[in-house]
Amino acid sequence: MYILGIETSCDETAASVIKADAKGSLRVLSNIIASQIEIHRQYGGVVPEVAAREHVLNILPVIHSALKEAKISAKDLTAIGITKGPGLITSLITGLETARALSYAWQKPLVEVNHIAGHIYANFIQSENPIKFPAVILTVSGGHTILLRMSQTGKIKILGETLDDAAGEAYDKAARMLGLGYPGGPIVSKRAKLYKQRKSDPQISLPRPMISSPDLNFSFSGLKTALLYKLQQDKDWKKRINQYCYEFQQAIIDTLIAKTIKAAKNNQAKTVMLTGGVSANTELREQMLKAVNDKLPQTAFLVPNREYTTDNAAMIATAALYLYRRQKTTTFKKLKVNASLQLQ
Ligand code: KG4
Ligand code: ZN
Repeated sequence: MYILGIETSCDETAASVIKADAKGSLRVLSNIIASQIEIHRQYGGVVPEVAAREHVLNILPVIHSALKEAKISAKDLTAIGITKGPGLITSLITGLETARALSYAWQKPLVEVNHIAGHIYANFIQSENPIKFPAVILTVSGGHTILLRMSQTGKIKILGETLDDAAGEAYDKAARMLGLGYPGGPIVSKRAKLYKQRKSDPQISLPRPMISSPDLNFSFSGLKTALLYKLQQDKDWKKRINQYCYEFQQAIIDTLIAKTIKAAKNNQAKTVMLTGGVSANTELREQMLKAVNDKLPQTAFLVPNREYTTDNAAMIATAALYLYRRQKTTTFKKLKVNASLQLQ
């Protein structure tokens, strides 16, 4: 069966076709993304109105390319998976209304997908062995930082989440303070990698908020403020940008790892999964893998290929496939966007 996935929740217009067979094998036949990063960079962040206009221009060509690259036509499709929320309402509407129109015109069922669930299913794309449950999953993106438990495919319980800023948002805000541009994650991590410790370096230490709290929640807003105060007190901070990036990134990574390992232990997890835009980060991927191997040697660790970490439609098509198999479809008449859709 062939599933078309469509994703427009923020600033990427994306469409993908996946092929799945009854034995459970899954192949991504196309994964097209029209990124708006260059357009939003000049404003230092995503401007919703600009994003919506770009989606309108890109959506049909992107879907057309996804079908063409997959070498299939609309009649071959089994279903269309579409992001219903959460996200920017004006961005979501373009994708969702397009999916509704195509569903009507092509007479194909629709599957509504929660964007965060999409990130989670990014880990189901290339997993060669069946995933062992229970799994503890950390989703870290620009809008979300959520720890959850999946007891079997599709059955989830939220264990903890950020009480304020998401991890990706913290990277983006730190990058803005340091004058590094948008999006912050890739630039801050690049600068952190360039940092080589010297004896003459001053001590810079930032807090690891909530790292020892008994719950599984996160908070990154205080970390950002702590960075701001440090910069205000250091008249030479521009000479030490790499060191600030290194310490800021390590503060985020330490917190994410501590809470994930704690959640995995509490839940006797057989698998730990990392996902979302921030999981593109090499240090986070490597340090989380090491922590799982050292502290939970019996537990498997999964992280998506980089192309499926930041927003894409292959993850939406994959989540739709699992929902379709459980007959969770809808019709074009019933489907509506929900900008603050909760994960269930
Ligand atoms: O998942 P995503 O594409 O969109 C949302 O659903 O939010 O995540 C985007 C976020 C941005 O905040 C960006 O700075 C962050 O992911 N990000 C990274 C890296 N690449 C993207 N953060 C840290 N390191 C990276 N390499
Ligand atoms: Zn996302």
